[in-house]
Amino acid sequence: MEIEFVSLAAVEGEPLSAIAIPVFEGPTLTAVGEALDSSTSGALSRALASGRFTGAKGQTLDLVAASGLHAARVVLVGAGPGDSFAGLGAEGFGAAAYQAVKTTGVKALELRLTDLGDDLSARAAFGARLAAYRFDRYLTKEKPEKKPSVTFVRVACADPVAALSAYEPLAAVADATMFARDLVSEPANILYPEEFGRRVKRLEELGLEVELLGEAQMTELGMGSLLGVGQGSVRESVLAVLVWKGAADPKAAPIAFVGKGVCFDTGGISIKPAAGMEEMKTDMGGAAAVAGVMHALAGRRAKVNAVGILGLVENMPGGDALRPGDILTSMSGQTIEVINTDAEGRLVLADALWFCQERFKPRAIVDLATLTGAMIVSLGHDFAGMFANNDGLASELLAASEAEGELLWRLPLHAGYEKNVDSSVADMKNLAGRAGGAINAALFLKRFVKDVPWAHLDIAPVAWRESAGGPTQPQGATGFGVRLLDRLVADHYEDREEA
Ligand code: BES
Ligand code: MN
Ligand code: ZN
Repeated sequence: MEIEFVSLAAVEGEPLSAIAIPVFEGPTLTAVGEALDSSTSGALSRALASGRFTGAKGQTLDLVAASGLHAARVVLVGAGPGDSFAGLGAEGFGAAAYQAVKTTGVKALELRLTDLGDDLSARAAFGARLAAYRFDRYLTKEKPEKKPSVTFVRVACADPVAALSAYEPLAAVADATMFARDLVSEPANILYPEEFGRRVKRLEELGLEVELLGEAQMTELGMGSLLGVGQGSVRESVLAVLVWKGAADPKAAPIAFVGKGVCFDTGGISIKPAAGMEEMKTDMGGAAAVAGVMHALAGRRAKVNAVGILGLVENMPGGDALRPGDILTSMSGQTIEVINTDAEGRLVLADALWFCQERFKPRAIVDLATLTGAMIVSLGHDFAGMFANNDGLASELLAASEAEGELLWRLPLHAGYEKNVDSSVADMKNLAGRAGGAINAALFLKRFVKDVPWAHLDIAPVAWRESAGGPTQPQGATGFGVRLLDRLVADHYEDREEA
């Protein structure tokens, strides 16, 4: 999709275009709305008076072939109360406008915001980009009328040059989100650990350094926990290490992101039931988010040092597979009794977290993982769970979460539950009963975190959506975490401009 910013004077409306305007609750027209109303001899106000459109967020009203206009359509988009319209509202506007016209045959969508400022103009374009995501690579027989017709979005605003420069970093985040969504959408026969590695290797084009460690190197490092998970698969396990050096001091300690990358989770010998198992192609959503945020940081040349570690494996049953009762020795030296081979994510992260700390001495670590079904039971599908050993990092993440609309809910890393993961034959076990399942998993991870601010995000609830979760979030892969972590970095970890 092509995006362009123009000034209002430069646009007229073309026969195959739609003009979208925000309408605030009331409903109240903006200045551009008033102007359109008068050039259509009051068609907009008549339309508003004729139905139940109130300007509430998410409503749309579509006027076709209004006389006095060249454009094919005018779309009135409910934008909620005018006084609280901000970044996420502008994204919702751009996204809802796109959704309203995407398969109407209209080729160009014009977002008319003129008087709302550069930042909101940029965010509207960003919303349309996010809304337009679809994973259609394998649809060879899709009917033309099902394909989106909109290929061009033009934002009419007061200062197109300023809006474009506000949009540039957002375009990097949008590209990165699409990259992450594609990784999650790809099936496991295509996206296995080595292929995942090849795709992140290509990010070197953006200026990232990418290193891929195979099983021999990981054996050498003693990563028995991660390797144990992958041993039942014919696919080679991979640890991907992505490094971005954007800070003025290339030696400054990096912020680190660690992702669970189980390219497919059958459960292993503790095999999962058949129903819904196909969704386990998304069990690398944490790794995809980490790859995505590294893509975003490099794409917008963020002034920060950051590393991304992806633990890439496939969890399969087989003659060589891990068995319940097996004891693994992790890179940290700690031993783990495997009670259930389906609690594999924590085994992968244990070594990835340890490697991260040994190699990089990071200033903070955030890990992301589709770790537990228990997290979905707790929170439903709108929130990811957050666990943190540091209140400062937790509140930075909550603020970023609020700003980007990727919701987090903090849960306790309660010391009293820690004995749940003790084992009688090893230092710990990978399963501690059903009660507090997501907390037990987090407490397991905590045993692999040294004295460093750390947060664990259990994104099992939010990595994949069965149905659309709002206009910027089509059905399927969400890319959850990319925007959140990019914002965390932008607000708290980048070099500040000297005053
Ligand atoms: N990948 C799953 C968790 C998951 C479930 C993610 C549903 C997304 C959607 C994880 O590896 C897993 O299998 N967890 C088990 C753990 C259990 C065996 C302790 C679970 O939550 O059922
Ligand atoms: Mn599992
Ligand atoms: Zn899993």
